[in-house]
Amino acid sequence: MNKFSNILSFLVLQLFLTTAFASEIHEPMRPDWSFQGPLGKFKRADLQRGYQVYTEVCASCHSMDLLSYRNLTEAGGPEFSKDQAKAMAAMFEVEDGPNADAEMFMRRAILSDRFVSPWKNEQEGRISNGGAYPPDLSVIVKARAGGADYIYSLLLGYQESPKDLIIEDGVYYNIYAKNQRIAMPQVIYEDGVEYTDGTAATEVQMANDVTTFLAWAAEPKLEERKRIGFKVILYLIILSFLLYFTNKKIWKDTSH
Ligand code: HEC
Repeated sequence: MNKFSNILSFLVLQLFLTTAFASEIHEPMRPDWSFQGPLGKFKRADLQRGYQVYTEVCASCHSMDLLSYRNLTEAGGPEFSKDQAKAMAAMFEVEDGPNADAEMFMRRAILSDRFVSPWKNEQEGRISNGGAYPPDLSVIVKARAGGADYIYSLLLGYQESPKDLIIEDGVYYNIYAKNQRIAMPQVIYEDGVEYTDGTAATEVQMANDVTTFLAWAAEPKLEERKRIGFKVILYLIILSFLLYFTNKKIWKDTSH
């Protein structure tokens, strides 16, 4: 009983604290992701536009080391054609070598290359960003509590800071960031890209597309996993019916 009242008072205290500081905590927005739920799928067009936003807006600061250009053609992803992906890779340069003269040289990236990083090393990334390192985005959707909802909200969460709040230099006010501060400036602006498929590049559209792209990057086999899961459940349901009726038939002449 004593234990119970301890737990109860702890819960009451928790409730009090969350209510008292509720204005400080901003729950992320929860858009309707097409890839949620047991039958969820990525929208191909969103993924393709998302790649465009990543390369044109985010790639100047964030690497995606775990992705190769080849992944862009694979089933369950943006599914660009091989030629499209080759052309996308060729827009970047990578260091290769050594050649016969023992020298390193630059060449255009090909399908088997990893996404080219904007920085030679972490130190260079930090120096260019006032000491804060822009994290690799390959699995960021899995690496942050709140996942896609959080990333989407963060991209759209920049606001004028309240007058009484002191924000240090090189830090920006964002209602969804930890302590409402982040060392990344607002990067999503209306018409920040010109979509090749003609879609209007609103802030919400761009945040949706790039977040969908990042969600796929963090779990490229999501569609396959859900498809197999669905089949397994279907199989188990059919098996249960068969077992039920077999059981009935076997015992039908035996009285209980
Ligand atoms: C000008 C450089 C720059 C650009 C461009 C940029 N970022 Fe960032 N980003 C940063 C920096 C610096 C940080 C680290 C912030 C910190 O530690 O406070 C960061 C952090 C992040 C984080 C992690 C936030 C967290 O909770 O730790 C995410 C997610 C992110 N960026 C996504 C994006 C996306 C998506 C884009 C493109 C739409 C983008 N960024 C474009 C510099 C940039």
